[in-house]
Amino acid sequence: MPQVFVPKEVVEGETRIACTPETAKRYVKEGFEVVVESDAGRHAHFTDEHYRNAGAKIVAGAEAEAAWGSADIVLRVYPITPEEASKIREGAILIGFMSPHKNLESVRILRDRKVSTMAMELVPRISRAQTMDALSSQASISGYQAVLMAATYLDKYFPLLMTAAGTIQPAKIVIMGAGVAGLQAIATARRLGAVVEVSDIRPAVKEQVESLGGRFIDFPLDESGEGEGGYARELTPEQLKAQQKIVRQKVVAADAVITTALVPGRPAPKLITADMVADMREGAVIVDLAVEQGGNCELSKSGEMVLEHGVTIIGHPNLPAATPADASLLYSRNIQALLLSTLSEGEVVLNLEDEILDGVLLTHNGEVRHGPTAEAL
Ligand code: NAI
Repeated sequence: MPQVFVPKEVVEGETRIACTPETAKRYVKEGFEVVVESDAGRHAHFTDEHYRNAGAKIVAGAEAEAAWGSADIVLRVYPITPEEASKIREGAILIGFMSPHKNLESVRILRDRKVSTMAMELVPRISRAQTMDALSSQASISGYQAVLMAATYLDKYFPLLMTAAGTIQPAKIVIMGAGVAGLQAIATARRLGAVVEVSDIRPAVKEQVESLGGRFIDFPLDESGEGEGGYARELTPEQLKAQQKIVRQKVVAADAVITTALVPGRPAPKLITADMVADMREGAVIVDLAVEQGGNCELSKSGEMVLEHGVTIIGHPNLPAATPADASLLYSRNIQALLLSTLSEGEVVLNLEDEILDGVLLTHNGEVRHGPTAEAL
C-alpha cells in the first residue's frame, strides 16, 4: 500500500495545503495510506479531526520526521527546501510547485536521491491535463484577490452609484495581461461594477476580454505577439516602448491598475514606468501580480506595499494564500488528478511515454529532465 505523506508547509505566509480531507478520503479509497503532519491544514481550517475522519493518520514530532523517510509520495504546495529534500527517501515521488530556477540546490539533492519530482508548474497546457493545471487554478484566485485588494486600498467605490447625495462615477480599472489571472480579474472587477480596460499582445485575447465586458486597448504589432505554445513572446525594446506609449494615457487616468503580464522563461515586461506612476492621481492603486518575476511596474517590490507619489503599489508574492480554503481545495484536486492518472492496477507507474508525465517530471532516475533547469545546474 503506497504511503502518501503531507507535511506542514514551512514558508512564512503559505497557508495552503496539498491534500484536503476530500482528497485524503479519495486516496484512502484507492488503497493508499495517508499520513498528515499534525496541524498541517490549520490555516485553511482543515483540522486533524477532519483528516482522521477521512481515514488519514496524524503524526507529529519524531513520527513526522520519520514519515519523510518512509513515504512513497510526498505532497507539497510551496517549493521544498534543501533540508527537506534531503529527508525524502531515495526513489520516492515528490509532487508540488518547484520554481526550479530559484531552487537549484533542492533540485540537485532530489536528482542525487533519485527522487521522481513532479513539478506542478510543468504540467503541459493540453486539454487532457486541464484538471491537473495548478498554474491556472491558482492564477485565477490571484486575479480575483488582486481586484479585491485594489478595491480595499482604493479611496473610491468601484460601482456607479446614484445616491441621494448625488452620483458616484464607476472606478476606472486597467488590467495588463489577459491570461488566466487577468481574465478572472476582469470578471471580478466587472462584477463590482468598474469600467475595465485591458492590454494584451496576443490577438486571440481580444474576444475573450470583450465577452467579459472589458474594453480592449488595441496595440498594432507588425508581427503577432503570440509565441510558442499559445503564450506571449518577448517584445523588442522598440515594441515595448510603443506599447508603453499607448497604455500610458490609460494608466495615468486609471484609479487602479492590475498587472499580470508574463512571458515564459523571461523577466516580466516592464509596462508601467516610474514616470507613469508619478503622473497617476494620488490615491490610485497598482497591484503587480508579476512581482515575483521582476514585476510589470518599475517601482513594485516583492512582499511590500510601496507608496510613491501617493500611489499605493502592492507586490504580494502569494495571493492564492489569501484564499487558503478554496486554493487548497483546487490545488489538491489538481494533484489528485495527476497522481491518480498514474495508477495502473493499483500501483503508481511512471510511464514516460505519457505526454503529461514526460512534461511534469523534473527529476527522475537520477536525471534532471527539464532542459532549462538542467542547463542552469
Ligand atoms: P501567462 O501567465 O504566461 O501570461 C499572462 C498574460 O500576459 C498572457 O495573456 C500574455 O499574453 C500577457 N502578456 C505578455 N506580455 C505582455 C505585454 N507586453 N503586454 C500585455 N500583456 C502581455 O499566461 P497564462 O495565464 O498562463 O495563459 C497563457 C495561455 O495559455 C493562454 O492562451 C491561455 O488561454 C492558455 N492556457 C491554456 C490552457 C489549456 O489549454 N489547458 C490552460 C491555461 C491556459
